[in-house]
Amino acid sequence: MPGQVNSVSVLFVCLGNICRSPTAQGVFERLAEKAGLAHVQADSCGTGGWHVGTAPDARATDAAAARGYAIAHLRARQLQAEDFVRFDYILAMDESNLHDVQLMSPPGCQSHVGLFMDFAPERAVAEVPDPYYGGEKGFDQVLNLVEAASAGLILDLKERR
Ligand code: 4NP
Repeated sequence: MPGQVNSVSVLFVCLGNICRSPTAQGVFERLAEKAGLAHVQADSCGTGGWHVGTAPDARATDAAAARGYAIAHLRARQLQAEDFVRFDYILAMDESNLHDVQLMSPPGCQSHVGLFMDFAPERAVAEVPDPYYGGEKGFDQVLNLVEAASAGLILDLKERR
């Protein structure tokens, strides 16, 4: 695996890196820390480059803050080739993002590339829906889903430790 022994690196990927994946990063980092997984590192990015350098959408920041997650300091960046060497897990929010990640994945890539929601315990929902063009409820739904998937991923990482 690309990460060093005893450390695990996770990259969350969405389209713009201003709604879903920074939320996933903030939630996962917080829950992993609470679970005592000090060896885990997380980052996020977008498959698109329109918002590079900008802070998360205010609706995402506000919804996250209401549950105690701070994400306003994060800045958007675009997926790049070296991510396939740096990260053990590259987890996409939806099938469209996953397809774009797979198109960039180099031959022989050692990273686990897949859908983030595959780690949710109930697996009732396959994707984290894009909330960008919807109302504030969509951002709460994103939080519900990423909390569930983060909890499942943390359990999985604990079992592998
Ligand atoms: P995200 O949401 O992929 O969850 O960050 C979006 C952000 C921006 C756009 C689309 C989705 N956009 O079209 O600019």
